[in-house]
Amino acid sequence: MARFLSTVAGFSLASIALSSPLTPQLHAHYNASSPCAQVSASVATQTATVPTVPAQLAYECITSVPFNQSAALALVDGVVPYFRWQSNTAWLKDPPKEYVEKVQPAVDVWGGLEKIREKIVGDKYDSEFEFGFELYLLLQSTHDGHFVYVPDVIGTVFNYARPVPLVSASSDGKELPKAYVYADVLGESFGNASFSASPISKINGEHAKDFLENWAQYGSLQDRDALYNGVFYELATVSLGPVGSGIGTFAGSGRGRWIYPGPTTELEFENGTSRTYNNYAKVLIPFNGITDGESLYKLWFTGNPPTKATEPTPSNSTTPTPSATATASAAPTIPAPGYPPPVIRESHNLIGGYFLEDDYSDVAVLSVPSFVGISAQKAFQSTAEKFLAAAKAAGKKKLVVDVQANGGGTILLGYDLYKLLFPNKLGHAAADRFRAFESTDVLGQKFSEVAEGLPRILVPEDGNETLAELIDDVASSVFNYQTDTDVNDRSFPNWDAKFGPQFQKGDNFTNLFHWNLSDVLTPLNSGGIYIHGYGPLSNYTTQPFAAEDIVVVTDGYCASTCTIFSELMRQRAGVKYISLGGRPREGITQAVGGVKGTNNFPWTYIQSVAQFSVQNLSSTPEEAAQLNKTELSEYWSDVPFDRASIGNAINVNFRDGIRDADLEGASDVPLQFVYEAADCRILYTKQMTVDVTAIWKAVADTAWAGKSHCIAGSLGGYRTTLAKRELSIQDKVLSRRTKQWRRELREQDYPLDVRTDLRNVKFAGDGIMWP
Ligand SMILES: *[C@@H]1O[C@H](CO)[C@@H](O)[C@H](O)[C@H]1NC(C)=O
Ligand SMILES: *[C@@H]1O[C@H](CO)[C@@H](O)[C@H](O)[C@H]1NC(C)=O
Ligand SMILES: *[C@@H]1O[C@H](CO)[C@@H](O)[C@H](O)[C@H]1NC(C)=O
Ligand SMILES: *[C@@H]1O[C@H](CO)[C@@H](O)[C@H](O)[C@H]1NC(C)=O
Ligand SMILES: *[C@@H]1O[C@H](CO)[C@@H](O)[C@H](O)[C@H]1NC(C)=O
Ligand SMILES: *[C@@H]1O[C@H](CO)[C@@H](O)[C@H](O)[C@H]1NC(C)=O
Ligand SMILES: *[C@@H]1O[C@H](CO)[C@@H](O)[C@H](O)[C@H]1NC(C)=O
Ligand SMILES: *[C@@H]1O[C@H](CO)[C@@H](O)[C@H](O)[C@H]1NC(C)=O
Ligand SMILES: *[C@@H]1O[C@H](CO)[C@@H](O)[C@H](O)[C@H]1NC(C)=O
Ligand SMILES: *[C@@H]1O[C@H](CO)[C@@H](O)[C@H](O)[C@H]1NC(C)=O
Ligand SMILES: *[C@@H]1O[C@H](CO)[C@@H](O)[C@H](O)[C@H]1NC(C)=O
Repeated sequence: MARFLSTVAGFSLASIALSSPLTPQLHAHYNASSPCAQVSASVATQTATVPTVPAQLAYECITSVPFNQSAALALVDGVVPYFRWQSNTAWLKDPPKEYVEKVQPAVDVWGGLEKIREKIVGDKYDSEFEFGFELYLLLQSTHDGHFVYVPDVIGTVFNYARPVPLVSASSDGKELPKAYVYADVLGESFGNASFSASPISKINGEHAKDFLENWAQYGSLQDRDALYNGVFYELATVSLGPVGSGIGTFAGSGRGRWIYPGPTTELEFENGTSRTYNNYAKVLIPFNGITDGESLYKLWFTGNPPTKATEPTPSNSTTPTPSATATASAAPTIPAPGYPPPVIRESHNLIGGYFLEDDYSDVAVLSVPSFVGISAQKAFQSTAEKFLAAAKAAGKKKLVVDVQANGGGTILLGYDLYKLLFPNKLGHAAADRFRAFESTDVLGQKFSEVAEGLPRILVPEDGNETLAELIDDVASSVFNYQTDTDVNDRSFPNWDAKFGPQFQKGDNFTNLFHWNLSDVLTPLNSGGIYIHGYGPLSNYTTQPFAAEDIVVVTDGYCASTCTIFSELMRQRAGVKYISLGGRPREGITQAVGGVKGTNNFPWTYIQSVAQFSVQNLSSTPEEAAQLNKTELSEYWSDVPFDRASIGNAINVNFRDGIRDADLEGASDVPLQFVYEAADCRILYTKQMTVDVTAIWKAVADTAWAGKSHCIAGSLGGYRTTLAKRELSIQDKVLSRRTKQWRRELREQDYPLDVRTDLRNVKFAGDGIMWP
């Protein structure tokens, strides 16, 4: 149902908060009444768009919200139909041994939900917050970044923050990394030559390494080294502005924003100095009329909050999907500190192309921090196309693909970028499947039956709008067996052939299937693009770079569509992967550390397909009544939606990826539970945290210049062929421009308050892990 999932509509950066104060405005005189009244009084005196209060006051206010037993019961029962769509609960409960040893422990999702329910029934919760946080953590503890529900009490009112973003860096690229205050590293890089940042030894009295490794676990990724990187300020995440995970979870970006960091943060440095910072909370809602926890509850947590109406409405728009043109040019520029002048860059920094200078003049860099969760799929594709053409035209011989910070976006853009690089290689490396249960079966039967009566054409010749919508909503859907192919690239003869089910691990799954990349309806599932090498683009057949002339670098934060792209690049094309950073421990790390599920479903989408089948696809009232006697009768309550926080993710992982049988390491284990070491691990240095080209040069050195920066693993097999070439006029111009850029870099270019905020963004995508 591409229309429901479409990513059309406005990308507004109204909420970008670069200018908001780093420290809360503290007011000397609080009204000595309830904590929430004090928040209200403080907010009333502030003029900033997003007011702030001390973290402790926010926490006291939110924990003073009374627990409502009957409402809590309605919520835990209301989430059940949606939890059923989560593809891997059987695997989470009983994961492979290697996953438990190296990645994360087992989680019994259904058992955990039952425990919460028992506590509710036994009236064991002291506050609404205690209940909401347990429910949030139940999903978060699965470390499946697609599986997320943020109750109102967790995400609607406050986002927590520490006013001090950190970085993790190695002194020389060989020594294990230490944590630093990022502002100190900036001071060292741009200020006094005599100043040298001292590493952090302790945080709140605990060894920094232990504190940070524990804190990292609040992140969305499964891999612990990737999670560790997510704690810190990273140039790639900052370049995404409010739709990325900003300045790191330690400072309250990404999924750190929902975790109370305590009243203060005390840092002790190796040089003996200590510094204490006041933690604060951003106040996300108006507080007028709120006098205590009870009034906060009544106004905001009972289903009809005052500003819910200002949210972007679900995209049932009647304009033809998708139109990915308008927003790209109108958007304001988002700062990308530490990135050199690009050859070409998409206006939201979702993808950009760069050339390196002097000794590295053979190297082109395609930086891809996103596969697009807003309406910019066409702009993304054309940026990639144009850059690869420009790189070839400029005689570049090597390509670094940088997917740091990439939480995915639009599935078919992952396939397209791979096919742009390898047009003649197979278009799949893993197959998909989803849970086979009553809801998916009923929907599949109904959708498939309706689709059999529809032509499989992109645009009805007679301009029939009703037909166009049915094609978009039904014919192009995964619930129509005609949309996909079986693992042998043959059509499924009917729904039952696709549905299966296959019994595994005590659960049922559909038969395996692939995308049909030649499908005429591809644009309905891709944000408007066709895939290179297929359909109208089947004349694209020239591979721009040999596999050994490409290397991909990641920070482990590679999730969803990024993992689909990576499976294709590694398994089909044999391209090597370098992972950056990681915990201060020896040894190799994983390059792909985010959710490897191959499709997320928003709960709103699940509800809409269920209701749509009953209301809009039944030919008679009797049939509607019949359909509504199935599990589809369980999708009519709005409780889980009313109780979800505003502007945050509400998703399940719908599809698992299962590696193709012809590939090495093939198994029937969903890729989410497969541990895969990178080919090489490189540590961040301080320079890399202020100048991204330092990363790209270390990668190029390692891959092609015989100067390995790997502290573990190696890129054996890559030839050492980075030749000094005669610099052309253009090369020299670029070199001058790059050096001027580097000279002109200033400390002020690096914003220290870039925090995740999706409240005013139309954020979607079918293969995306929300930050
Ligand atoms: C707190 O503020 C309310 C409303 O302004 C006022 O009525 C009340 O007297 C104040 N209480 C104290 C203790 O100052
Ligand atoms: C508790 O929630 C129920 C809905 O389940 C609602 O009817 C009731 O008013 C709530 N109680 C309070 C005190 O807000
Ligand atoms: C540089 O260091 C000197 C001497 O320690 C000090 O006087 C000066 O203020 C410093 N300048 C900056 C920009 O920090
Ligand atoms: C110790 O290091 C910290 C962090 O870099 C710095 O802020 C502080 O000025 C240093 N103290 C001394 C006495 O050098
Ligand atoms: C979506 O549908 C609802 C009800 O059918 C309608 O009120 C609303 O205007 C539609 N929204 C858009 C953007 O077309
Ligand atoms: C438009 O398409 C719908 C669905 O196929 C069909 O029921 C309807 O008759 C068509 N309308 C016209 C004017 O052809
Ligand atoms: C799996 O599917 C089979 C066949 O439809 C059914 O009998 C069985 O109950 C299902 N098992 C589970 C755990 O859903
Ligand atoms: C894939 O789609 C194309 C175009 O719609 C169609 O001709 C072809 O039969 C489909 N392939 C399979 C295996 O269904
Ligand atoms: C492929 O065909 C399209 C449209 O016919 C044309 O615009 C494009 O230049 C062709 N590309 C190649 C690589 O031949
Ligand atoms: C489905 O039917 C309902 C109820 O008749 C109607 O309000 C809604 O607009 C329809 N939705 C679509 C997408 O046709
Ligand atoms: C379907 O059943 C549910 C649960 O009984 C009910 O709330 C809903 O109104 C029904 N929907 C329709 C369209 O009959």
